[in-house]
Amino acid sequence: MVSEHTSGSVLSYATEKGAPMRILITGGAGFIGRRLIGHVRGLGHDVIVVDAGFTGVLTDVPDDCRLVERDIASITGSDWDELLAGCDIVFHLAARKYNTPGVTAEQLIATNVNATWQLAQAAARASVSRLVFTSSLYAYGALGPDLMRETDVPLPRTLYGSSKLMGEHILRTVGLESGLSWNCARLFFVYGPGQYADGGYKSVIVTNLERMAAGLAPTICGDGEQALDYVYVDDAVEALWTLATAEPTSQVLNVASGRARSINDLTAAMIGVVGEKFTPETLAADWTAGTSRAGDPSLCRTTIGWSATSDLATGLAGTWHTLRRDDPGR
Ligand SMILES: NC(=O)c1ccc[n+]([C@@H]2O[C@H](COP(=O)([O-])OP(=O)(O)OC[C@H]3O[C@@H](n4cnc5c(N)ncnc54)[C@H](O)[C@@H]3O)[C@@H](O)[C@H]2O)c1
Repeated sequence: MVSEHTSGSVLSYATEKGAPMRILITGGAGFIGRRLIGHVRGLGHDVIVVDAGFTGVLTDVPDDCRLVERDIASITGSDWDELLAGCDIVFHLAARKYNTPGVTAEQLIATNVNATWQLAQAAARASVSRLVFTSSLYAYGALGPDLMRETDVPLPRTLYGSSKLMGEHILRTVGLESGLSWNCARLFFVYGPGQYADGGYKSVIVTNLERMAAGLAPTICGDGEQALDYVYVDDAVEALWTLATAEPTSQVLNVASGRARSINDLTAAMIGVVGEKFTPETLAADWTAGTSRAGDPSLCRTTIGWSATSDLATGLAGTWHTLRRDDPGR
């Protein structure tokens, strides 16, 4: 049995022998979580999903996963002990976003900070082999033009960014106190199939692909020269899996492509994928005017051997074709 092995040896044992592991994913019904489930199930591991369905799609969680429909902010220490019994890996993705309508600061702190602290302590008690936390570029608070590096002093500008930074510090602290093995992914702008404009992040990619699917021109705020670092969801999932199974641990690493792409370039690429003539509609400039937010991926590459491999055109095509097949009302 995998769970009979001591913490630290479990991952190498399970991955070498191909023995199934038990993997708990908070936020598993969300955009990245659902893709992660597919990856983990494909490797033959057992999955427990804890998700309240705030922005995720609970009905898209596969039937062969155990789904626990709970707000993680309401889960007590003993509840976590029960949920984590026999778990090898925890992916902690559930989070409240600063740009989701109706989410209060208190709810954001309760999920992103308090529940992260409860979960980290419970993961240590349960001797899970690894806890992987999805942090964010918003932990930096930087607006460019330099690439964001893990050695930068983080100065978040939003409560969401602060809460993600706090999540990282919680893991570091619990790890030091208990020996919990953890890794954090500072995800940049993740895009791909299964992301919806009305849930989770308001991705400019999904918003504009949905507009074009409805015959409307894509929109661009201001001069369109603001730039972002896009990571295809399958690359992000591969990074999360590598962070869960590779050594070394207790790292905060950028999951970024390293390339700042302007909204003008991105929109041109999207129009190319859609294959129809659209002239983008210009909207008033917003706070992103003049910004360039991209991460340096080199530490991630040298530390765990991950780098983004998907090219934008292929990623956008996958997103577009999946969106066309999906229920347009979703
Ligand atoms: N998508 C990106 O570009 C991006 C970038 C940086 C960081 N991240 C981080 O990656 C993680 C996943 O992002 P995503 O894009 O899949 O978001 P998402 O909104 O699609 O998924 C989040 C999931 O967490 C669930 N959830 C939220 N609060 C919860 C709570 N209190 N209890 C139980 N379930 C709860 C939601 O219902 C949803 O299913 C998040 O932690 C997010 O902050 C994402």
